[in-house]
Amino acid sequence: MSAVEHETHDAQYDEVVRYYDLAKRAEWQVRELPWTDLPPIPELKGSPQRQARRRDVWRSVITQQLQADEFAVEMAAQLFALAPHREAKLYYTTMVQDEARHTEAWIKLIAEAGGDAERDPYLDKLAKMQLEADTLEEKVFQMQVFFERLIIPKFRLIARASRGTVLEDLCNRLAVDDGIHHGSGMAYERVLLANATKKTKDKLIKAGNRLLPVFVQHELWRPRERAWIGSAMRAADIARLRQELENGIRMAQSLGLDVSDIELPALAA
Ligand SMILES: [Fe+2]
Ligand SMILES: [Fe+2]
Repeated sequence: MSAVEHETHDAQYDEVVRYYDLAKRAEWQVRELPWTDLPPIPELKGSPQRQARRRDVWRSVITQQLQADEFAVEMAAQLFALAPHREAKLYYTTMVQDEARHTEAWIKLIAEAGGDAERDPYLDKLAKMQLEADTLEEKVFQMQVFFERLIIPKFRLIARASRGTVLEDLCNRLAVDDGIHHGSGMAYERVLLANATKKTKDKLIKAGNRLLPVFVQHELWRPRERAWIGSAMRAADIARLRQELENGIRMAQSLGLDVSDIELPALAA
């Protein structure tokens, strides 16, 4: 190691650098998906009405993921622009590329599945709040607690319901990518918070409290196309959401934050 490198080397960021290397190795291309070998979404069966209804469900599932990944490109680009540390900046170059590639794949898949469905208005609102958050500490925290970790179990669920399709293949790849995004985000947030003032940390909890009710609305929202499934699954959705909120609190705690001021919204079944 040269003298210059030695002087600027800060072991705090080793973990972030490790994720940078990992992200580069995990990179894939949209053309590698099985576009010509597998159907885009599960085969539709039954009467024409039933087939149309099932197709709308898949269109809706894909639309929500496309919407989320379009925002993820903006969020990652913002993190890249704002992060003052060169290790984090390098890492975020890979995240911008990942999110762009995810968006590209969803755009191609939604076209093959029959076109866009209804957008989730609460995701629009949540993303606006994330993009307008005041500090880098808030943005990195919210990205992990409200967006990236939560999406991983959802990809697993979608993959399980769409065996033998391009959709399944894509979800499996995205679960890996977002695992890296989440790991690196937590590693960077740990460094940021180790150097943050109590005021910054208190503000972060307050911002989280503002996001929570919108997050709950987003998680429980069901588009027209899936309303008929939504009502039957509401109790299960609420139980899952409760668990997610508890996970979020554990995550905040593991970052050394004082979670006693977190205000959990009431969840009515
Ligand atoms: Fe993504
Ligand atoms: Fe991501």
